Amino acid sequence: MLHLPVYLDHNATTPCDPAVVDAMLPYFTKNFGNAASRTHAFGWAAEEAVDLAREQVARLIGADPTEIVFTSGATESDNLALKGIFDKYRPKGNHLITCATEHKAVLDTCKHIEKMGGSVTYLPVDPQGRVDPAQVTAAIRPETILICIMYANNETGVLQPIREISAIARAHNIPFFTDATQAAGKIPIDVQEDGIDLLALSAHKFYGPKGTGALYVRRRNPRITLTPQLDGGGHERNFRSGTLNVPGIVGLGKAADICLHLMYTEANRLSVLRDHLEKSLLTLGDVFVNGSTTHRLPHVTNLSFRYIESQPLLLSIAKELALSSGSACTSANPEPSYVLKAMGLPDPDARASLRFSLGRSTTPEEITYAITHLSAAITRLRATSIR
Ligand SMILES: Cc1ncc(COP(=O)(O)O)c(C=O)c1O
Repeated sequence: MLHLPVYLDHNATTPCDPAVVDAMLPYFTKNFGNAASRTHAFGWAAEEAVDLAREQVARLIGADPTEIVFTSGATESDNLALKGIFDKYRPKGNHLITCATEHKAVLDTCKHIEKMGGSVTYLPVDPQGRVDPAQVTAAIRPETILICIMYANNETGVLQPIREISAIARAHNIPFFTDATQAAGKIPIDVQEDGIDLLALSAHKFYGPKGTGALYVRRRNPRITLTPQLDGGGHERNFRSGTLNVPGIVGLGKAADICLHLMYTEANRLSVLRDHLEKSLLTLGDVFVNGSTTHRLPHVTNLSFRYIESQPLLLSIAKELALSSGSACTSANPEPSYVLKAMGLPDPDARASLRFSLGRSTTPEEITYAITHLSAAITRLRATSIR
């Protein structure tokens, strides 16, 4: 039995896993203690739950639990990493390197840093959506204090050459930060093997609650420090003050734990469904895939359907299919995607794009329905549009 609309927008957000909700519930009511209360059982219970979540999140990315800083989500983690490094390392330099297809949480923070006297290099990407590591090397200056390149793009799923770039950063003694919001919980990440010094993630992208995330901050080889962006009680090793969101953190930990166990089977299952969807829609003709098909998240595809405007199409099929043309944050913006434009797409092709992001609830029946329904809608629209 199909439930409409079929949800194929898991890069925007995911439903909370019922096991995550179950894990969280006691921390709203019975175990409501403040994790910073050290003098009674309510505080100890909360602290114990936070400690477990810290271990679960650390395990997901191969970190040590003491390297996890809980935040309100990836936007905050991105702000803390970028502004925190800029403030701390300012005596050494003011230059940051990032790329044109980062999420707005990174790009807008970089714009803020520029207003504060920083200098930012926005590297281009190739038509596949990837950064050329040689261009990272070429952009390095004596005053470079951070290299920031996302793990996987939210619109296309394209994976960046993280290990090559982190090796360059390490060779130049520059901290390397990656926004792994779309990759964490979906594909294996290991901060040691990947050479990552700072990493942002967010619970609601992997079946945890909204408004909870983390920033990984390396403690050894090398030790990375940051200037906190929220001052107060000195929580989270002084990096992020504020009473901890215990239910949210418990949910984040539980979601991380579930992903760790399901990651490989889900990635295989979803890549088969994604490939079937993609292949079927390509047969419509005048359809092409945006971004690399070899370096890509297993559950994502971004397609442009020539002669179609994606926004009116999406609204016309909204009762049956829930998808988007790009990131949720920019879905109200009529401008064509800056990510696709950076990859060299002309405006009409960028406006003709749809992002499909599959998830844990996606079934073969849903994919069959999506193919049939979308193909009919596109054929209809094309027949009525003036070419
Ligand atoms: C790559 C990337 N970074 C950051 C964010 C922001 O995450 P949050 O919603 O947790 O603030 C998102 C969410 O869309 C994202 O996809």
